[in-house]
Amino acid sequence: MVRVLFVCLGNICRSPAAEGVMKDLADQKGLAETLIIDSAGTSGFHTGQLPDSRMRDAAGARGIALDSYAREFKADFDFDSFDYIIAMDRSNFHHIKYMDAQGLHGPKIFLLSEFKRERSENEVPDPYYGGPESFERVLDIVTDACEGLLQEIIKNHGL
Ligand code: 4NP
Repeated sequence: MVRVLFVCLGNICRSPAAEGVMKDLADQKGLAETLIIDSAGTSGFHTGQLPDSRMRDAAGARGIALDSYAREFKADFDFDSFDYIIAMDRSNFHHIKYMDAQGLHGPKIFLLSEFKRERSENEVPDPYYGGPESFERVLDIVTDACEGLLQEIIKNHGL
C-alpha cells in the first residue's frame, strides 16, 4: 500500500478536493486498492464538517463526490501513517515542516505544485473568500498536479 495525505488549512476546500480527485484518478488506473488517500487540515476550525458546499458542488459537477469529514493534522499520528504528505500552499507546507521539529520526515513532505504538469501555479490558492471561479480553479490546478503525483507514485513504487 502507498499512503497519501493531502493537507490544507481548514480541510473543507482544497485538500478534500485533492483527496477526491486523486481517488478518482487512482480508480481510473485500477489502483483504488493500492493507494490509501486521505486529507487533513493544519487547523481544527472545521473538524467534523463535510467539505464546503461550493467545493462539493464544483467537484460533483465533474463527477467527483466529496464526502470526507474534516479533521486536524496530528503530528504524532500522521507523520508515521503516510508515505506522501502533500501541502496545498506554502503556509501549509511550512506549518507541517515546523511540526516535524526534528526533521525526521522531511523527505515525505511535498508541495503539491512539485508535481504539476501543464499548470503554472506554485500553490493552490485558498478559495474560501472567492467566487465560483476560485473553486473551479482549485479543481483545475489539483487535477493537473494529482496526475503528475500519480505518475510519480507509479514510477517510484513499480505499480
Ligand atoms: P481550505 O480552505 O484550507 O482549502 O479548507 C479554507 C477553509 C476555511 C478557512 C480558510 C480556508 N477559514 O478561515 O475558515
